[in-house]
Order: sequence, then C-alpha cells, then structure tokens
Amino acid sequence: MAPDDLLASIVDAPDRDRCPGARPVVSYRDDDEADYLSMIDARAHERVHLVRRGIDHGWLAELDPPLAPIPGVPENAQLAQRWHTGRPILLRGLVDPRAGFAEEVAARRRLHDELKEPGGLRRFLKAQRSDLEPNYTLQARPGSLYDEERDLERVLVSWVLRPEDPRSPRAKDLWVKSGWLSDREDDESLRMRFSFGREGADDASRDVRRHRRIEELAEMCLPEAALVSDHPRVVGLLESWLGDEVFFTQHIAYWNAPGGGALFHHDALDERAIGGQKGVCYLQLTGSTAWLALSIEDLTRRVIEFAEYLAEGELAWVRESTFRKPEAFAQFIKMTGNFKRVRRELAKPGCGRLGRIVGRGPEFTSLLADAGHALILRAGDVLILPNHGYDCTAMHSVFCASEEPGYALSLAIRESNPPPPPPEEYPGEDPSEGPPRTRRGRGRSSRGRD
Ligand SMILES: [Fe+2]
Repeated sequence: MAPDDLLASIVDAPDRDRCPGARPVVSYRDDDEADYLSMIDARAHERVHLVRRGIDHGWLAELDPPLAPIPGVPENAQLAQRWHTGRPILLRGLVDPRAGFAEEVAARRRLHDELKEPGGLRRFLKAQRSDLEPNYTLQARPGSLYDEERDLERVLVSWVLRPEDPRSPRAKDLWVKSGWLSDREDDESLRMRFSFGREGADDASRDVRRHRRIEELAEMCLPEAALVSDHPRVVGLLESWLGDEVFFTQHIAYWNAPGGGALFHHDALDERAIGGQKGVCYLQLTGSTAWLALSIEDLTRRVIEFAEYLAEGELAWVRESTFRKPEAFAQFIKMTGNFKRVRRELAKPGCGRLGRIVGRGPEFTSLLADAGHALILRAGDVLILPNHGYDCTAMHSVFCASEEPGYALSLAIRESNPPPPPPEEYPGEDPSEGPPRTRRGRGRSSRGRD
C-alpha cells in the first residue's frame, strides 16, 4: 500500500473513533518506512513521546487538519450520543486559563513543589484561612493516611453554618489530602484531593449536603475551578444530558509530571448508577497531557482485537513476555471469546488480569491510538469523561506530554436533585449483573480517580 494510502486508511478507517473537535492522532515508530514518516511529517501538528513509569509507549503524531464534522449530524447530537455511550467528550480550547485567574494558575507551579515538603498541604490551607473562616476551620489533629505508599498528608476540616450557634448544622469529617500518583522515586506526579467521610467507603456517598460543602471548600482553595464549574457551555451540555441541575464536587488538583501519569482506570464507583456520580470533568490549565480515552465497551472490543492478532501469531514477543506459560495465554484467549467477561475484568481495579495488556506499550497503546482513541490536551482544553456505571463508563490512561509538570483540575459531576437509586434487587434484575466487588470492599472506585 502506498504511504499516503496507508495513512489515509488509518485516519479514515470506518471504525475509527472520531471525537468532534479533535485532531487525528496516529502512532509511529522511528523505523517505519521513510515514505510513511514523510507523510506524517507533512501533516504533523505536534509529536509526543509517551513514557510512563519506565515503560516506553512509543510516539504519537497529532495531525492537521482537525477532524471535519460528520455531515448531517449536529455537533450537539454527536456529543449527546458520546455522553450516553460512555465515550470521552473533548471541548477544545474552551477556557482561557488566564481569564481572571492568572495569578492562581501561576501559583500552582510553586504549590506542586510546596506539597512535596512535610506539612506543605497544611501550610497551603492555612494560607486560605481568611477565606475559609469562620465557617471552615482546620482541625489540629492530622488525618490518618489511607495509602501509606503514596499519600503525603491529610488535613481534616470542620464546617459550621452559624459559628455562634451550638445547634447550627455542622460537618466534622471534611478533608483534603495530598499524595503521589505512583510509588516510583522518579515520578513527580502529585494530586491534592477534596472529599469527606471515610476514604474509599464513602467515595460514593450520596449526601448532597456534604458534597455541597466540598464544592464550596474546594472552590475557596482553588478558585480557578470556576473556569469549568461556572462555564455555561459545560453546565448547559451536562444539564441537557442529565435533565437536572448539576454541581461539581470531590475536586482533585493534578500535576502530571514527565515520565508519570495515570494507568488505565475508570472513575465509576461501586454503586447503582441511577442517582450516582455521573462522570468527571477534567480541565488542563498548564502544560499538556496525552490521553488514551474510550468507552469500556470500545476498550473491550480493542482488547479482543489485540487478542486476535496475538492468536494469529502477530507480535510474538508480546505473547512471550506477557504470558510466560502457554496455559496463561490459552486462558486469555478463552476469556477474550466472551465480551461480557472482558468488560467485567476491565472494570476491576487495575483492569484485573487485563492490566498487563492495556498497560502494554508501545504495542497496545499504538493499536488504540491508530483506532482514534488518543487525544492531546493543552491549557484550556476540557475533557468530559461520562460514567453510567461499570458497564458504560469512560476508561482512560494519562501521560505527561509537556517538559514540565502540567497543572489540571478534575471535578466529579453530580445531579443537584438525584433520583433515589433503585433497590438492591428488584424484579427482573439479574443478580450476576451487579458491579464487580473491589478488593477493599464496597464503595472503592477502580483506581480512585488516579
Ligand atoms: Fe480518572
């Protein structure tokens, strides 16, 4: 096949995902044919070398021109379809990160360094006391660490509506924590997370009252979150899809650093989907990140496709290094004959037994990129990751794409007036279809929005 035909066959493949607003992204290798590399050179808008936690995931090229709209289908209809099928939604260049919050955004570069120091989180929160008090106060006793390997610090926060009134409504179990994204010495990726109650067990809490307190606390500490939470386009789209007012909670500030990022995971919680967390809104504020993002259904299909290649004898070195024993490979091939079984495995923490496949670079990463599932996010880009439960949620894997750690915010989406969840079991329900149990019990997400 001629090189230009080869590139066109990848970019125009009928089953390729087309995220409205995105530029097409393809993978390539330095030892690809010179003519093919020249075709990429002629169209390359940006290139990214993906390296995460010591694994080389290969090269991506983001191509010009941006994808043309699908003729005859209004863009909002395409976005709605993506929402309801758990596919990522990109709102390219939606936000000007300097509009009104230039100082705050600039200060977050320093905050990344400050949070690494002992007591850095408490010092940051103390510096916000003039905004927080008198309703929000930092508790003197330090909070315990949930993940001894990665967590750095937890600060407990109390809230009271009327400080002078002993009978006033109050909440004593709000918290903010800081932690590394991985336990690798060479990974500087950090996060700062706002939530309440018991970490893990209460992640899926439907207590709107306390979620509202987290919304307020996070937006006082990180006022730039309003760039997305008050954005009429973001709010308008979400409310049109959900048919209810929405609000944002359980904010996470991220610094994805070179060589770091997040492994494949989803942000679904162990709960009935109706009335639960509806997804996550991610805003890149500085630097850039590369993403593999697709619905769990699409990822299931791609894993099955990859298994077929391996079974046909392609990529023999992947088969040899991933499956030491022939029985393990035979089990994998058997599993990939069952769509539901693969989807269920992918929903488990770390993608269960398929973690080694979906984290495999550069071969699996390359397959996903060439199938239209790679995106590059820059300052001002918003990515919405829908969640309708384990069977219909956006899976994602994140890489740093800038030379410096980039700063980003991730906000959980909730309905203001959520309908009550259906009972645990109701007539006609197949009990085997319940969410997969996690290792640490109910309420823990697959990776806790890493
Ligand atoms: Fe996530």
